Amino acid sequence: MWHKTLLIRELAKHEDIPYDLLLLADPSREIIESYLKNANIYIAQLQDKILGVYVLVPIDSKIIEIKNIAVDSNFHGQGLGKLLLQDASNNAIEKGFKSISIGTANSSIGQLYLYQQQGFEITNIKKNFFLENYKDPIYENGLQCKHMIILSKQL
Ligand code: ACO
Repeated sequence: MWHKTLLIRELAKHEDIPYDLLLLADPSREIIESYLKNANIYIAQLQDKILGVYVLVPIDSKIIEIKNIAVDSNFHGQGLGKLLLQDASNNAIEKGFKSISIGTANSSIGQLYLYQQQGFEITNIKKNFFLENYKDPIYENGLQCKHMIILSKQL
């Protein structure tokens, strides 16, 4: 099992960015590249295989945002997403941030469940965010992805 041997660490600047995983969470490579300019990337690694990733971007001196979080689809539902969210919060506390936020779509039902289960509360809605920023329409769970729901947790 990965639980015993998993290493979560920051990706070094010279290492390849795991775009295959990042694209699971965000279908636009262009948007991903725009937030990676000011980001720290963390990976969950089992020997030399990357199983998960999350990306932190500071919003201001108090708030940091998880811009992207993804787990290899072969490893979904084994608690890795939860572990990455906890690691992101610990990391933000160590860096001195007071709150951590994450945005997801109105149609991302499982993600909305997971983030609330992990102590994030809905604090804002960016109406029509996905309609205005993504070229192609996105559907999940039989719903059109239209609005971004922002959830935040005090640290
Ligand atoms: N649908 C239903 N339930 C889910 C889902 C889902 N998509 N994802 C997680 N859950 C539930 C699990 O059932 C579990 O519930 P339980 O504790 O009651 O048993 C709980 O949430 C924790 O699940 P984990 O196993 O820790 O989550 P997992 O390792 O599967 O990772 C993640 C969750 C990162 C969302 C993964 O499904 C994934 O990579 N999805 C594709 C990419 C994605 O959507 N990323 C988030 C986009 S938003 C953003 O990046 C800011």
